[in-house]
Amino acid sequence: MPAFDLSTRISGIRLDNPVILASGILDVSSGLLKKMADSGAGAVVTKSVGLRPRKGNPNPTVVAVHGGLLNSMGLCNPGISEFLKELGGLSGVKVPVIGSVYAGSPEEFAHVAKEMSASCVRAVELNVSCPNVGKGECFGEIIGKSPKLVARVVSKVKSAIKKPVIVKLTPNVSDIVEIALAAEKAGADAITAVNTFGPGMVINVDARRPVLGGLFGGMSGPAVKPLAVACVYKLHESVSIPIIGCGGVSTGKDVAEYMMAGASAVEVGTAVYYDGGRAFGRINRELASFMRRRGIKAVGEMVGCAHGK
Ligand SMILES: Cc1cc2nc3c(=O)[nH]c(=O)nc-3n(C[C@H](O)[C@H](O)[C@H](O)COP(=O)(O)O)c2cc1C
Repeated sequence: MPAFDLSTRISGIRLDNPVILASGILDVSSGLLKKMADSGAGAVVTKSVGLRPRKGNPNPTVVAVHGGLLNSMGLCNPGISEFLKELGGLSGVKVPVIGSVYAGSPEEFAHVAKEMSASCVRAVELNVSCPNVGKGECFGEIIGKSPKLVARVVSKVKSAIKKPVIVKLTPNVSDIVEIALAAEKAGADAITAVNTFGPGMVINVDARRPVLGGLFGGMSGPAVKPLAVACVYKLHESVSIPIIGCGGVSTGKDVAEYMMAGASAVEVGTAVYYDGGRAFGRINRELASFMRRRGIKAVGEMVGCAHGK
């Protein structure tokens, strides 16, 4: 065993390290996914993919703000059939690939998840939490805000596929624990907490108009980290399935913080948007050095230790 054991497990899937590429950042092609995997990610999550191709929102779709990014991508993707061809080119990838899917109904979720799970992915992540969809569309966050709908989506998907099902939650609810418990009861194997916060808006004061083409966007990056860590902490007290923390991770210490709150791994988006794949090696080196300075031998020792149990 190496001096510092960074390995972790999510629903039976072993990761060499706990730092996972989050959905939506440098992950829309097999070339990019492989590059991120080779850069030292513990696992990679694909861009969220739906039944049909989708253009997403008009440009600009991303704007930098103090402490992070506001994005209104709007689930642009090539559709599951095209994406499966893309995943076919992903042979020899060294780390687990997690396929992210979204849909407009429990039945459609089951259909897209089944197609996704027939590929090389080791698990499926259900994006029931995208805030950037149009009025009247029943995608993403609209599902993730209802415990009943989340439960229906999870049980449909669980009866359609054999691979582990991870549910990615929205933080934009009054009680995230209620949603997570509904997902767990319906058979979810793990939770990702959380997607972006919002809605947020930036006004261009010279143009006197909102900057984002989609007007509103979801906030990510360092500014949301304390809010997302609080979600993980609350979830650890209530659910028994593994939690993947997500929101504002950019250093090894951030990973330790999430793990102490109760996460078994973390996903990283905005830091990769800025630093590319280099972020993974750096964050893991910082994590190892954090552990060395404190005499922590394995990342597992940290999981949930902030709860004082
Ligand atoms: C440009 C961009 C695109 C994103 N696309 C997706 C997506 O397709 N599916 C999804 O589940 N989350 C998506 N997200 C949310 C991220 O996966 C992540 O939950 C969020 O950014 C918080 O993590 P971070 O602070 O490390 O970026 C996107 C985020 C950004 C910034």
